[in-house]
Amino acid sequence: MADTATDPRDALIARLPKAELHLHIEGSLEPELMFALAKRNGIAIPFASVEEVRAAYDFSNLQDFLDIYYQGMGVLREEQDFFDLTMAYLERAHADTVRHVEIFFDPQGHTERGVSFDTAIGGILRALDAGEARFGITYRLIMCFLRHLDEESAFATLAQAEPWLDRIAGVGLDSSEVGHPPAKFARVFAAARERGLKLVAHAGEEGPPEYVWEALDVIGIDRIDHGNRALEDSALVERIVADGQTLTVCPLSNLKLCVIERIEDSPVKRMLDLGIAATVNSDDPSYFGGYVNDNYRAIAHALDLSAADIARLAANSFAGSFLPEEEKQAHIAAVEAALSS
Ligand code: ADE
Ligand code: ZN
Repeated sequence: MADTATDPRDALIARLPKAELHLHIEGSLEPELMFALAKRNGIAIPFASVEEVRAAYDFSNLQDFLDIYYQGMGVLREEQDFFDLTMAYLERAHADTVRHVEIFFDPQGHTERGVSFDTAIGGILRALDAGEARFGITYRLIMCFLRHLDEESAFATLAQAEPWLDRIAGVGLDSSEVGHPPAKFARVFAAARERGLKLVAHAGEEGPPEYVWEALDVIGIDRIDHGNRALEDSALVERIVADGQTLTVCPLSNLKLCVIERIEDSPVKRMLDLGIAATVNSDDPSYFGGYVNDNYRAIAHALDLSAADIARLAANSFAGSFLPEEEKQAHIAAVEAALSS
């Protein structure tokens, strides 16, 4: 076991420029901010202390987590709340030498409880612009459809997004995976594609390899979120490699949601060895116990990654982003410089 206190890989991770491609902004709500917003908005929450909130973050599957995640976002009511949430995340990202973020938000998680689409997106975008000015972190915003809701609700959400389409890079698909395959949303994804949006979807987190095939063949996605269970199907692995598809893997999330039993079971190294463009991301960092660099460090030690593996993951994060080609190349050159410095 490497001595983590002096492990040179930790210093490499700390200085490597990186992009984060799988981050639910509502999942970055730290308990301290949850309490502050509950107080500011006069909302009662069923916890007496920050410690009690953290103790409740003990999940045995995705649904366990989602129940508490939707409850937690109930403190977000005003535009300023979404601004504060997003700015707090960007400060963490900046500390982790993140140079570019592609963040998700869940509009239906807000509109379903009477908070308008405009309130949520307005605060998030104002913070993303402020973060770009303050930290130089560029961004893309992706709105996700909640897959446990129906197609009609997804179409209504796309209609609400219409005035904001020049500020939204893509649409995604999240929430309870099993029983809600990508094909359920084929038509709304096609409508999003017609509007020039990029398409991503959570697939193969808990759902079977067939859901990943559907995301590729029925939806025609541009990037796969998670994709762990794709490794069960060698023809699917071949397809992912041949298409050059990026997978946004989330190691600490996988551990907390019991997608893997031990961090040593993270598929990231196996994916790299198979030629899959894997990336490392935090998913819902407040709930899963770590931001992006915590995820890099956890797998660097558990999977005994080399410095070259770690730099490959950072390079993949830019290559798999929705940045223009020249910007991708400039970031990848900076990754290489950081590796050899
Ligand atoms: N929403 C927030 N985090 C999620 C995850 N890991 N899977 C599905 N939906 C989510
Ligand atoms: Zn996710």
